[in-house]
Amino acid sequence: MFTVSGAGWYLYASMKQSVMQRTDHAVLARLDHFRKLLRYDLTLDNLKGSPQLFENMLDSEEDIFLIGEPGKAPVISVNPQRAPLPELPVVPQDVALRDTDLRSGTSLQGVPLRAASSTALSGGVEVRLTAAHLMVKEMAMLESFRQRIYAAITLAFLITALLGYVLLRRGLRPLRRMTAHASDITPARLHTRLDSQDTPVELQPLVDAFNAMLERLDDGYQRLTQFSADLAHEIRTPVGSLMGHCQVALRQTRSVDEYQALLASNLEELERISRLIESILFLARADEAQAVIERQPLSLQDELQRIAGYFEGLAEERQLNIQTSGDGVLQADPILLRRALSNLVANAIRYADPGSEILVRVKQHAGHWLIEVENQGPPLAEAALGKLFDRFYRGDASRHQSSDSNGLGLAIVAAIMHLHGGRVAVAQPVAGRICFTLVFPG
Ligand SMILES: Nc1ncnc2c1ncn2[C@@H]1O[C@H](COP(=O)(O)OP(=O)(O)OP(=O)(O)O)[C@@H](O)[C@H]1O
Ligand SMILES: [Mg+2]
Repeated sequence: MFTVSGAGWYLYASMKQSVMQRTDHAVLARLDHFRKLLRYDLTLDNLKGSPQLFENMLDSEEDIFLIGEPGKAPVISVNPQRAPLPELPVVPQDVALRDTDLRSGTSLQGVPLRAASSTALSGGVEVRLTAAHLMVKEMAMLESFRQRIYAAITLAFLITALLGYVLLRRGLRPLRRMTAHASDITPARLHTRLDSQDTPVELQPLVDAFNAMLERLDDGYQRLTQFSADLAHEIRTPVGSLMGHCQVALRQTRSVDEYQALLASNLEELERISRLIESILFLARADEAQAVIERQPLSLQDELQRIAGYFEGLAEERQLNIQTSGDGVLQADPILLRRALSNLVANAIRYADPGSEILVRVKQHAGHWLIEVENQGPPLAEAALGKLFDRFYRGDASRHQSSDSNGLGLAIVAAIMHLHGGRVAVAQPVAGRICFTLVFPG
């Protein structure tokens, strides 16, 4: 827009300048021509005799010419519009006329004019000549030129605006499509993805990032839905059994011993529910990273001894032997570390073949601290290994009903390792041996 206006202004200015130059040149040429004529060929008396002759020699209404002796009324006075002339410097007859000898003025109608004056000796008499030009045609031409430039600028502005609008609309079309698509996405339709097919290259990263975000949301949402479904299922079983026991007992009057037995079994069931709720709460807090971990230097040998001592009785019941080895100092949260270790050792005692050995080892590898818990037991399918850390996963379906297994132990171990910036891994070094490894970053 500014460029077009600037170009228009420049064209107008240079046009005006060249018109002025032509006018100036014509006025000076005429003045020079007549002063030579008067000097060599014509006398003032000749002129007095036939003034029309002179008038005919001028081109048009816009030309002014005055000839006369200084101080007297002019002999020739061609000034049809009676335009007043400005004060003019008088150029002597031998001096060449120059642009600087010209002066500007205005006619009674307000039309600009250019004028110059000179002297000549004609037949021994000093004569004064004045020539001027009224710029009527020139101003009209410049005016029409200016109108045309205005029209061109307005047109250019309209075309630019229209073109800009069309291009902007076209350019924003993919964004509008994305917006429509994004507003269609609801929790129930999280699986839909933005179509990246006819998206311009510039928007491709945005589409990819948006789709990746949807992927993560979808994943998180599905896990949450699954978790709530599992949770309801897990709680329904013990609550159902509690209600069943109570209903049976209430059908008829029971002895005090029977009531005591019922209360004891109910209490066991309630303890399991309470453990379940506590585990779920722990996992929820770990998920939200609310659990603040307090790292302390821990002697790993002491920790292993403590765990082995704690589980000694349970291990003996199943004729199991717990062997500990290794030593080191680890920065970790003591309560969380003990919880992770006891979950692993409790599993080992529960699932190991009776009469076998449980190995609890501390190792250092590639700058990491490793704590391994290994036991002997029935071989597991490779596919099952990947699922062990899922919430509510139990390898043995029959244990679903058992009151001591929630399927949350290993999920909690994984959450604790995540809080420590480490991880937990499982492997079967040989069929029939299973080894869980806690990996702590160094
Ligand atoms: N040392 C092990 N040997 C063989 N199988 C194991 C071992 N540890 C865990 N598992 C399998 O992994 C499953 C999940 O273990 P996890 O500790 O998460 O749950 P759980 O022991 O069944 O219940 P919870 O620990 O909540 O009381 C177990 O049901 C079992 O099938
Ligand atoms: Mg367990």
